[in-house]
Amino acid sequence: MTGRFADRSAVVTGGASGIGAATARQLSTEGASVLVVDVSEAGEALVAELRAAGGEATFLAGDVSREETWDRIAGRGPIDVVVSNAYTVEVAPAHETSLDSWNRQIGVSLTGTFLAARRLLPDLARTGGAMVITSSVHALVGLPGHPAYAAAKGGLTALTRQLAVEYGPAVRVNCVIPGPIMTPAWDRVDEEGRAGSVRATVLQRFGSPEEVASVISFLASSEASFVTGASLVVDGGWSIVKDSA
Ligand SMILES: NC(=O)c1ccc[n+]([C@@H]2O[C@H](COP(=O)([O-])OP(=O)(O)OC[C@H]3O[C@@H](n4cnc5c(N)ncnc54)[C@H](O)[C@@H]3O)[C@@H](O)[C@H]2O)c1
Repeated sequence: MTGRFADRSAVVTGGASGIGAATARQLSTEGASVLVVDVSEAGEALVAELRAAGGEATFLAGDVSREETWDRIAGRGPIDVVVSNAYTVEVAPAHETSLDSWNRQIGVSLTGTFLAARRLLPDLARTGGAMVITSSVHALVGLPGHPAYAAAKGGLTALTRQLAVEYGPAVRVNCVIPGPIMTPAWDRVDEEGRAGSVRATVLQRFGSPEEVASVISFLASSEASFVTGASLVVDGGWSIVKDSA
C-alpha cells in the first residue's frame, strides 16, 4: 500500500456511519489498516467494502463508553492513529434530561474519548502517532435542547488541549469542530430545521462527511506535523455568523 497512511494502523470509533465511515474510507484509501469500532453492525458492510477495494479493514462491535471495548481494541496490537468520533445525543432541556440520559451522552462522547486516551496513548507515544477527536460547534455556542451533548463536546476541546500537552512531543492530539454535516444524524430534523441550519452557514449548504474526513485525515497525517492541541472548525462559516435581525 502507498499513501500518507501506508503501514499505519488506525482506529475509527463511530466508524460505521457518517463522518466516521467517510474517515475510515479515506484512511483506508490512503493505505491504513483500519479498525472500525461501532455499536452498529453496519460496520460489517463497510469493512467488506474497504476490503473489496483492496484495503485492510476489520470491524469490532463495541460500545466506546465501556472499558472492556478499549481492552479488546488495545489487545489487537500497535496503533498509530486514533479517531475518537462516536457520539449519542438525546434532545431535551436540562430539567427534562434524566441522569441516565446525561450519563449516556457524556459516557459515549467524553468518557469514551478518555478511555481511548487511557488505553491507547501510551502505545501511540511509542509509535509517534496522532489522535483526532470529533467535537462540535455545540462546544462554541449554546443551542436549545443539548445540555449534555454541549458539555461533552466542550469537554472534548479542553481534553484535546490537555492530552496534547500531556503526551507531546511524542503524540499530537487535535480536534475538529464540525457544523451542519449531512449524515444520518440529521434524519430526526425536519425540512424547516435543515433549511434554517443551511441559512446559518456562510457557504449556504450542508457539509459532506467527506469534507470533515479530509480534515481529520490531514490532522492525523504528517502534513500536520507542527499542529497539536488545535480545534479546527469545519462548519462552512456557521459559527462566525450571528443574525441580529
Ligand atoms: N452531522 C453533523 O452535523 C455533526 C455536527 C457536529 C458534530 N458532529 C459530530 O460528528 C461525529 C459523527 O457524527 P455523524 O454525524 O457522522 O453521526 P452518525 O449518526 O452518522 O454516526 C455516529 C456513529 O456512532 C455510533 N455510535 C453511537 N454510540 C456508540 C457507542 N456507544 N459506541 C460506538 N459507536 C457508537 C453510531 O452507531 C453511528 O454509527 C459525532 O461526534 C458528532 O457529534 C456531527
